[in-house]
Order: sequence, then C-alpha cells, then structure tokens
Amino acid sequence: MPEEQLVKVNIDGIPVEVAAGTTILNAARQIGGDIVPPAMCYYSKLSGSGGKCRTCLVKVSKGSEKDPRPMPKLVASCRTTVMDGMEVQNITSAEVIEARKGIVEMLLLNHPLDCPICDQAGECSLQDLGYEHGAAKTRYEFERRQFERIDIGDKIQLHMTRCILCYRCVFVADQITDHRIHGILNRGDHSEISTYIHQAVDNDFSGNVIDVCPVGALTDKTFRFKNRVWFTKPVEAHRDCDKCCGKVTLWYKGEDVLRVTGRKDVYGEVEEFICNTCRFDQKKTVDWIIEGPRKVANTSVISSNHYDSLKPLPVIKKNLALQEANKEQLERYTRL
Ligand code: SF4
Ligand code: FES
Repeated sequence: MPEEQLVKVNIDGIPVEVAAGTTILNAARQIGGDIVPPAMCYYSKLSGSGGKCRTCLVKVSKGSEKDPRPMPKLVASCRTTVMDGMEVQNITSAEVIEARKGIVEMLLLNHPLDCPICDQAGECSLQDLGYEHGAAKTRYEFERRQFERIDIGDKIQLHMTRCILCYRCVFVADQITDHRIHGILNRGDHSEISTYIHQAVDNDFSGNVIDVCPVGALTDKTFRFKNRVWFTKPVEAHRDCDKCCGKVTLWYKGEDVLRVTGRKDVYGEVEEFICNTCRFDQKKTVDWIIEGPRKVANTSVISSNHYDSLKPLPVIKKNLALQEANKEQLERYTRL
C-alpha cells in the first residue's frame, strides 16, 4: 500500500501533522479543545455537508510553504483543505472572532429566542454560539419569518421558524434513508424545509433528522415538552437490532425512559445512526442491555448533577465563594 502523505499545519500556534486532503476543521479536531472552530452545518458522517452556515470561518495567515501569501478573505474551515506549511488562526484572530459574531447575529435574525420552551435547549449549538458570541440586543427591525408547526412524520415535528437551513436533515434523508421526500423549497429568504405533503416522512431511519438538526427545528414528538434535558439522566444501552447498530443513549427521568437518541460525540455528532424502532418504539428498560451512565462533558448543562468526579477549574482553587458553590454541587451529586 502506498504510504499516506502527511502535511504539516499550524492552527493557533499548535502544530499538527495530518493526511493530505484533510480539511482545516478536521485538522483542528485532531488537536481538539478550544481551537476547534464551531460547525453548524458540517457533519462528518454526511458527505457533502458544510459550506452553508459560515460559523467555521478561520483566517489563513500563511497559505503554504511553497506559497506563503495569506488568503485574502476568511475561509470556511469545513471546506478548505490544508496545505503543507499552512498557518491558520481561529481564536487567536480578532478578525475571526468579530466575523463569527456577525454570523451569529445573522443566524439569529430569523431564529426566535424561545430557548425557555424549546426542546433543544441544553444541547443546541446555536444556543452555545449565542452565549459565546451573541450580542445582548438585536439591530434587526423588520418582521421575522414565521411558520406554522407541521408534522413531517407521525413522530417528527418541524418548526420551520427555528430552522437555520443547514441542509443536514436533507443529507440524512438522501444518504441514510431509502428515499427522500423532504427538501428545501424555494430560494433566498423564501427557502424552507418542506415535504409538500404533511406526515409524508415515514421510513425506518427518518428519526435521524432529529439528531442531526443543530437547533430545535426538528423535534421528537414522543419527547416534546416532556422534560428539560438537564433533568434527565443519559445512560448508554444497546439491543440486538436487525436494522441498525442498536447502540443508543437512553434519557431517563426516574424509572422512565423519556427518549432514545443516537450516541453523540464531543462535537454533537452521532457516532452511528439508529433506526426508528430503537428510537421511538423501545422505551422500556427491559428492551435494553444497560451499559452504564453516559459521560457528559462537565461544561455541558446536561452534566449538572451528573458529574463523574468533580474536577474543579483552576480558578476554584483560589476563590472561596466558588469553593463553597462547588461543595454544594458535590453534595447534591452524592445525594442523587
Ligand atoms: S430543519 Fe434542522 S437540520 Fe434541517 S435544515 Fe433546518 S436547521 Fe438544518
Ligand atoms: S460548518 Fe463550515 S460553513 Fe457551516
């Protein structure tokens, strides 16, 4: 087998060697941590995804060893491949941070701030971005796009008002299900996700559109308004399934399984897609072989009260008030 060609790239001052043809975003993911650009439309398991939302913009301050000129504009890191000797700036560039603020403002032009009643709250990429980069006030004065909620399948509801047109659900339908009946209709600010015929989405893997949606536009009707995700406990489980891998996360409240999802990685992407039978029809503990609690990053709101072990941030060591607050958290955890 021919040896894989590696190229050297430097992202925010951190060097990494990756296979030729890797995108800047995936090179950054190989380093991990804060320097990884956010991605609202790219999804590593869906080919052709990315290039729509611009949240992953970075600055290429050196093009390559052969041609060190910087790229004239910020580039979408999910669509730009690395070159040998390339130097990239993400969080070390004020220009990138400023541009990202603008992108978040644009994404929020038509996105309602209904997080208090949205099922996606607590695991919404746009909510996280809003906290990190959002402005306290909007400058937008015009009427926002509003849509009626529709059922695009018997267990999937589409709330188009929240959609950011990332196309992920369309790629899922195209690549994971046997036939696609929904897509994006019209162009520009008239674009909308639609099926034309309500309740039309009914194939075995259609539920995956819920998992890939980065916002609360596609929701699981069997879980809608049942609970806030941070009051539920994620548990890993599997079953023998003849349609999919059968590896899922069960979200418990007390003894009840409120919802079933695919297992998501640190970037919020499912590790493997699951079928609708596992997702919607197997909601009893006896249906599953329980593996144990799902590890949740302790920066996530879902982890509140579910810490594996308490790892105080360095700042806590110096701050008595934070130490006190942390003690309470620990006691609460032990009580659960
Ligand atoms: S419904 Fe969700 S997944 Fe589909 S395009 Fe809109 S935001 Fe993306
Ligand atoms: S993640 Fe790169 S453009 Fe959306």
